[in-house]
Amino acid sequence: MQTSLVILAAGKGTRMQSDLPKVLHQVAHAPLLVHAMRSGAALEPAHQVIVAGHGADAVAAAAAEEDPDARVVLQEEQLGTGHAVMQARDDLAGFDGTVIVLYGDTPFITGDTLAAMVTARADHDVVVLGFDANDPARYGRLKMDGDTLTAIVEYKDASDEERAITLCNSGVMACDAGLLFALLDKVSNDNASGEYYLTDVVALARAEGRSATAVICPQEETLGVDSRAGLARAEALFQARARTELLELGVTLTAPDTVHLAHDTIIGRDVVIEPNVVFGPGVTVETGATLRAFSHLEGCHVSRGAIVGPYARLRPGAELAEDTHIGNFVEIKNATIAEGAKVNHLSYIGDASVGEKTNIGAGTITCNYDGFMKHHTEIGAGAFIGSDTMLVAPVRVGDRAMTATGSVITEDVPDGALALARARQDTKPGRAIRLFEFLKARKEKARKEQA
Ligand code: UD1
Repeated sequence: MQTSLVILAAGKGTRMQSDLPKVLHQVAHAPLLVHAMRSGAALEPAHQVIVAGHGADAVAAAAAEEDPDARVVLQEEQLGTGHAVMQARDDLAGFDGTVIVLYGDTPFITGDTLAAMVTARADHDVVVLGFDANDPARYGRLKMDGDTLTAIVEYKDASDEERAITLCNSGVMACDAGLLFALLDKVSNDNASGEYYLTDVVALARAEGRSATAVICPQEETLGVDSRAGLARAEALFQARARTELLELGVTLTAPDTVHLAHDTIIGRDVVIEPNVVFGPGVTVETGATLRAFSHLEGCHVSRGAIVGPYARLRPGAELAEDTHIGNFVEIKNATIAEGAKVNHLSYIGDASVGEKTNIGAGTITCNYDGFMKHHTEIGAGAFIGSDTMLVAPVRVGDRAMTATGSVITEDVPDGALALARARQDTKPGRAIRLFEFLKARKEKARKEQA
């Protein structure tokens, strides 16, 4: 059965206290909307329509980045969930499969749950996703008669008896497309909120003798975000799930609760991740690498057997080949570090390439920025960069070349050459002792004058 998605994302999210539309707040570095789109993508939908309102342009841009085929329609006034779904009608004209309604602020609905709803749709005209709530609060209540869903009653409109029901509406609904829009035409706003409720579709379908049922999922999946606290809860839930997934895939996390992952982090088997490692987006770590404590990685690739950290920072474009070592207080940005190369202490390597088995001494800096432009540093294979070398880009240090400690390298160093670029040492025998005595006497004199 073909499916199409309608994702509701017009709400302002007043409780977020934010200038950003609610669905663009991020969990694990991806907007809530993108999480919802990915849930639905598991069904390989024929169409995807996002109903935007507040911040529609920004919402449309985020949607297009995730899926250029997604359509975005504007709901100018937020008159209720039923009214919101109606905005998708023109975009779904001619589509006669199942419409699945999702919320853009509800990021954890799984593909399996949606697949179960589609399966249930084979026998029912309307399928609603429900959950047994620990605290049903202000959710809509599902009124069941055996397997039949007879109605959804909004909290504000519910009797005490109905409020005692703990089976609640997640907001996700699957319905035959033609039926959905025909029934929405009949929905009125004659209720306690003065809104056009999507949920009224259930009772209207039943009144026409159509069948409706509920699929039940764990409450956790239905977690929606409508406040910063809710966003923090969603982040915590994402992290907990992602960590568990990594452990199951054969990754060692010595202190799982301290490791923060991004929505797209990819980690191979037998990688060891020590405490307090943080992943921004776009990180891939291959089998058998070790990420030591307090390292921060984003937009980078770490190959087999590499050792990173403790306290290393890999920024976008850092490409570490096999068996590289990146040590403490080292920052790598837009740079390739070839197999077996080492940058172990207190260095900045940016806009650079470092050849195989090259050793970069402590405190080496690629001076890549002149205040206007970034410039490249090339370091060959088997080279040795002395500690505290400044490499003023653009510059090339050849294969098996050396720079002397403390050098400021402004000219290319040919293959096999040694470059010394610092002032020659001038040693004065006994001069330090005389200097100490002179300084001590001067301090004593100043003290007496003050007394
Ligand atoms: C809705 C359901 C309720 C369910 C609850 C689950 C209705 C009438 N009620 O409650 O049964 O238990 O969700 O969270 O459907 N939206 C729009 N345009 C609108 C109104 C809402 O795009 O005009 C979007 C919101 O941005 C949000 C979603 O729809 O993503 C749900 O709206 P919200 O106001 O949070 O839900 P309720 O109506 O309280």
